[in-house]
This record gives sequence, C-alpha cells and structure tokens, in this order.
Amino acid sequence: AALNGRNTFRVAARANLLVDVRDSTALAEVLAFPLVRSLPLLPLGEGSNLLFTRDFPGVVLNLGTRGINVLEDDGDSALLHVAAGESWNDLVHWTLAKGFSGLENLVLIPGMVGAAPIQNIGAYGVEVCDVIHAVEAYDRRQGCIVRLGNADCRFAYRDSCFKHEPDRWIVTAVVLRLPRQGTLRTDYAGIGDELARMGVATPTATLIAEAVTRLRRRKLPDPAVIGNAGSFFKNPIVEAGVAQALKAAHPGMPAWPAGADHCKLSAAWLIESAGLKGFRQGDAGVSEQHALVLVNHGSATGAQLWDVAQHVQAGVQARFGVLLEPEPRVL
Ligand code: EPU
Repeated sequence: AALNGRNTFRVAARANLLVDVRDSTALAEVLAFPLVRSLPLLPLGEGSNLLFTRDFPGVVLNLGTRGINVLEDDGDSALLHVAAGESWNDLVHWTLAKGFSGLENLVLIPGMVGAAPIQNIGAYGVEVCDVIHAVEAYDRRQGCIVRLGNADCRFAYRDSCFKHEPDRWIVTAVVLRLPRQGTLRTDYAGIGDELARMGVATPTATLIAEAVTRLRRRKLPDPAVIGNAGSFFKNPIVEAGVAQALKAAHPGMPAWPAGADHCKLSAAWLIESAGLKGFRQGDAGVSEQHALVLVNHGSATGAQLWDVAQHVQAGVQARFGVLLEPEPRVL
C-alpha cells in the first residue's frame, strides 16, 4: 500500500498492508489476524507528525472512528468524549461554536484527535494536557481498551507515556474538560499584538482563535502548499547555567525559564543563527519562512529530508553545543 498521500511531508513510502478500522471495538479482532500479529504495526492518522525515511515493513492502521459526545454539561463546563478519527481543527471549531473555550489557542494544528495526546500538542501558551480529563487507548499488552486519567498519561512538553511506548498504545478517544468561561491566554507569542491589529479590545475565545489562525497562516508554511510536518525539532531544554553562558556569548538569544533550574531555548533562533534558515539540498530543505520547519520542495525522499535534519543538528551542535531532538516520529 502506498503511503504517499498519508504523510504531510508527502514523501514516497509503502507499507505491506493498510487496514482501515471504523469501530474501535473491532480492534482486538483486527489485531488478532495472524498476518497483522506477525508484522510491526503503525497507527497512522493524517501523518502530520512523522517522517518516513524508508518503507514501513508492516501494517499501517488507520483508525477512522468518528463522534463528539457531550458526557456531562453543568453549565460552567462540559466533559466531551471525542473519537480518535475526528479532525483536531474541526473539533476546535465545533467547541467554539457550542460556546466552549479551552481549545482556541490550538486552532489550525493539523492531525487527528487521537494523535493530540501522544505528543501533547501545544501552541501559543496552551498544551492539550491542560484540558485533557482522560485518554482512552487500546492497550496491546492487556488486549483491551483502558482509560488513563490525566496524571497516568505523564504529559510533559511534547511528550506522554504514549510516545514512550508506541508499540503498546492505540489511542481510541480523548475526554476533554472544557469550561464555558475559561481563562483566556493572550499573553503569548504575538497574540496580544495580533488582537490589537484586529482592533479587538475585549478578546473572546473565538477572537483568539481568529488571531492564532492569522499568526499561523503568516508564520508557518501550509502543508497543503509545501510538504512539512510543522516544527521538526523540539525547543531544547538546557541547564540554566548553560543558557546563561550562551546568552553571555549571544546577547540576542531568546531563552525562557523552564522549571527551577532549566531554560528553554528557541530551536528556530539557533538554526537561523547557525546560518541554516532556507538551507536546501535538492528538494529537501529548511523553510525560508520558519527555521524550525523542514520542507519538501517537490520530490525529496524521506532519507534526503533526514540528511538535512542531521545537517541542521550538526550545524547547531558545532556553533552552540546544543543537541536538537527531532519532534516528529522518524521511521
Ligand atoms: N525565530 C527565529 N527564526 C525563525 C522563526 C522564529 O529566530 O525563522 C525565533 C523568534 O525570534 C521567536 C522564537 O524563535 O522568538 C519562537 O518562534 P515561534 O513563536 O514561531 O515558536 P517556536 O518556538 O518556533 C513553538 C512550537 C510550535 C507552536 C509555536 C507557537 C515547538 C517545537 N514548536 O514554535 O508548534 O506553533 O511555538 O506557540 O514547541 C509544532 O509543534 O509543529 C508547532 C508548529
């Protein structure tokens, strides 16, 4: 089965078998098929957070389950059960139309709902773990669907227990707790300026979503236009002393406190300052628009994109002594 249309980098790759599952109660049965059991398994949604560097020697599982259900609504907040196969961005708009807040800063993030908790998607000062009540996932170890409370998911910056054991979990649904009058986050990364440009004095959740949409459209290359998987590296977290020394040598360097004795650096700034923004080798390159995004200008292979990623890692390491870790899954 061809995976070309199933990854937003739009690289060519194949899998031995592609299985579409429309009902998560059928998972146990599907996974019990001898052919499926004998091969590696890759649950794949929109493929917006992974890079195929070669063919996948196994079974790709597309969980196309649908449904948004309000489990509880006491007027102040609601508990929403959302199936893994729903589109994340459609969900954000659905919740805003129903008068719920909490997801407005996470508008326009590509991918499906089931992928959101795996890397704990985040943008503009909010992470999805802030509103996750529980995650339902098929546990291949126990052979059944289990419900993990927020703490069980061990969320951290772009991280969760699901990311650590990709062969164990298949996320089947996410349960969100969304307030009607939540605290709006307008303090982060240009939202305030964008609201001012829009002439907004009193922000609402919907207006914040509009501001974030404008910011993202301007800053990030659109995967519908040029193949990419969003940020290709995590913003590195280093010891405060390391950040201080770097800041002394490079006064313009952005750094934010992360916990008591660590700092988060800007990977985009490190890449741009190492002279690599817009770097290109054939059709694989670093975006000219945003240094943290790798792009496929046309017919780059996954291996060529991975070469560029390693070139970027080496360049930043040589100039700043900081190792950039990939953010998407590299297969
Ligand atoms: N910057 C540069 N050069 C660039 C782009 C940015 O030097 O080409 C500097 C800017 O000076 C800015 C800083 O980098 O101060 C941060 O840039 P930005 O606000 O665009 O955010 P980011 O740290 O690069 C993170 C997330 C994004 C998320 C934005 C907004 C990660 C790995 N990435 O990017 O998430 O949209 O913040 O909150 O944490 C994604 O994960 O795919 C993603 C797009």
